[in-house]
Amino acid sequence: MADEKKNGGNGASSGSSKNGGKVGVVERVTSAVKDDIQSLKTDIPTKAKEQITGLKDPTKTQVYTSIFRHKHDDTPRNRALGVLSNVFLHLHPAKINRDAVRYSYTWGMGGITFYLFLVLTWTGVLLMFYYHPSKVQAFRDVLYLEHDVPFGKILRNMHRWAAHLMVIGVWLHMFRVFLTGSYKKPREFNWNIGVLLLVFTLLLSFTGYLLPDDQLGFWAVTVGTNMARATPLLGHEGPFGPQLGMTPYNDVRFGLLGGSIVDANALLRSYIWHCIGIPIVASVLMIVHFWRVRKDGGISGPAPVMLTEEADKPRRGPKAAGE
Ligand code: HEM
Repeated sequence: MADEKKNGGNGASSGSSKNGGKVGVVERVTSAVKDDIQSLKTDIPTKAKEQITGLKDPTKTQVYTSIFRHKHDDTPRNRALGVLSNVFLHLHPAKINRDAVRYSYTWGMGGITFYLFLVLTWTGVLLMFYYHPSKVQAFRDVLYLEHDVPFGKILRNMHRWAAHLMVIGVWLHMFRVFLTGSYKKPREFNWNIGVLLLVFTLLLSFTGYLLPDDQLGFWAVTVGTNMARATPLLGHEGPFGPQLGMTPYNDVRFGLLGGSIVDANALLRSYIWHCIGIPIVASVLMIVHFWRVRKDGGISGPAPVMLTEEADKPRRGPKAAGE
């Protein structure tokens, strides 16, 4: 036993105590197995009991408590924990100003615009399975979608209508932000992110216009990109453009169309901007926009209203003395 102690209790290294060591190991293994059996005898009924009560009340099961780690009773602390300990809910603040989220205040327009963007992304990806951005196939694909693909017509129209609604939604959202004065300090930066989002929403709409390769889209993009001729410095008809060497073959319009007329290259460029470039930039801007709403103290909320009895109370804080 002394040897065993010296060897840290593993009982297997010294030559003279080889036999004694083996006995020690056997003894310990046997007693461990006995302990295990004993604990199984007591644990199994307890565990079984737990499982049965768990079936009656699932919130007490190990599975449930491993996912939701807070109690469910309705206290402010537990409500906050419920939000904070869930990765999806955590995107929202744990506490918000009740007045700021009233529909009559926000019209829900920012949220609706974002929701429409998600619908557009989803339906857009599905449309990509049927559409080829080439002069030969684009219009045919659209006809195929409209008339032959199961649910193709509703898919295309969901995309189209969501696009129109998103443009209307973003304007209404901007209008409400303006009306509630929410562009003022400390939200000036977010207003500017919003302006970029407005531009990118309009660009998404514009680049999508050409993709069916029909007469409407062709002429809309012809007119739209013709305006780019008059861009200051970068357009061949714009102020200082010719002086800087701009021609119809190297100016900003040429860059947008991939040529001097609306043709196959313009279709391909519109497609890539529409499906990859602009959605990525818009998504990044939206992430910044939402993060900023949080950092600026949540949605602005109506001006605080004070009850008469509150106004009469003596006030504390640095302002109180001067008032
Ligand atoms: C894709 C476009 C946009 C999306 C998805 C979006 C989304 C949102 C959401 C969800 C909110 C929270 C409050 C609410 O729903 O009203 C918000 C707030 C805000 N948005 Fe937008 N927005 C967009 C475009 C714009 C534009 C064009 C502007 C202005 C030029 C803007 C400026 C603001 C400002 C300043 C706030 C803070 C408002 C407050 O605290 O009351 N956003 N946005």
